[in-house]
Amino acid sequence: MIGLGAWLPPRHVTNAEICSRLDTSDEWIRTRIGIAGRHAAEPGTATSDLAVEAGLLAMKSAGVEHVDAVVLATATPDHHIPGTAPTVAHGLGLPEVPAFDVTAGCSGFLYGTALAAGLLHAGTCRTVLVVGAEAMASAVDPDDRATAPIFGDGAGAAVLAAGRPDEPGALGPIAWGSDGSHAADLWIPDGGSRRPVHGTAEAGADRCIRMQGKEVFRHAVRRMCQAAQEAATAAGWVLRDVDRLVVHQANARISATVADTLGIPAERVPSNIDRVGNTSAASIPLLLAHAATGGDLIAGHRVLLAAFGGGFTWAATTLVWPDDVEALV
Ligand code: UT7
Repeated sequence: MIGLGAWLPPRHVTNAEICSRLDTSDEWIRTRIGIAGRHAAEPGTATSDLAVEAGLLAMKSAGVEHVDAVVLATATPDHHIPGTAPTVAHGLGLPEVPAFDVTAGCSGFLYGTALAAGLLHAGTCRTVLVVGAEAMASAVDPDDRATAPIFGDGAGAAVLAAGRPDEPGALGPIAWGSDGSHAADLWIPDGGSRRPVHGTAEAGADRCIRMQGKEVFRHAVRRMCQAAQEAATAAGWVLRDVDRLVVHQANARISATVADTLGIPAERVPSNIDRVGNTSAASIPLLLAHAATGGDLIAGHRVLLAAFGGGFTWAATTLVWPDDVEALV
């Protein structure tokens, strides 16, 4: 990893604003999820707009004006058709590079990173920009208290370049998987090919994110623990040597349970969910950038990363924090 950037849309949405519309409370949102506020893109601002901002910062951080490919992880594309990554590449002034979307929910950034690592390893590319970006507010039902307090908008991006596995900044092996039998536990029910919505409006169609929170919580803990353990072992690490555990910011109680189960002390588990909420595919790069700029990630730190999301999907990998990357936010 040679560059890292993150971008949050300026509008900040407090719990008080959420509570003014829903039967919930600031106290419930803080204690049950760990969120005090989140950011929301203005209407008219799309996922690609957020992705371009983060991508520009990541490329500036890397000191590069060109990358050989753009991988965009998102669950909230600008449109069903076409993919959003070409729009991002165009916005970055890279109009002809290969660019494609990865749809793996909140695990998308780590999935995209694994794909990029494969492209670099095969010699297909020398540099790849991996972006995780979400305009979750565009997909959340503001009247659904099971989701509206949780999700936030944002984007994070990393530039990956070919290198040696033993040098700082090197990504380790990926441990990943999926379980499609749980597709309906975190989904947008209508508007896809299974339940198409034709025309501009269809009575009863549900095109908002719906989540079975308890079920997702249980599987998130189990799968992230399993994947993190596998990734650490594959990298030749033991868990007590992990300097930082970077967990997808879904719920502060999920992160705490994962850390407890793995035996990693709380002071080694950075968090930004209190101010950004659950930003899905943007969560991991946003947290890396915030932890780095806050001085909580330093050169040589052994970082274990884990994510879980809709699909279900999950992924974990390792990263030795580089000594010459300045994250830009
Ligand atoms: O990013 C992808 C991964 N996403 C996740 O991992 C999210 C995983 N799930 C969660 O984070 C949690 O399940 C939630 C935050 C969604 C819900 O928290 P919970 O502790 O699992 O709550 P619950 O669904 O068990 O509900 C507990 C109580 C219920 O009331 P009763 O039946 O005990 O009277 C709910 O009706 O809390 C109530 N409740 C709420 N109260 C105030 C549920 N949502 C709310 C709310 N405000 N927003």
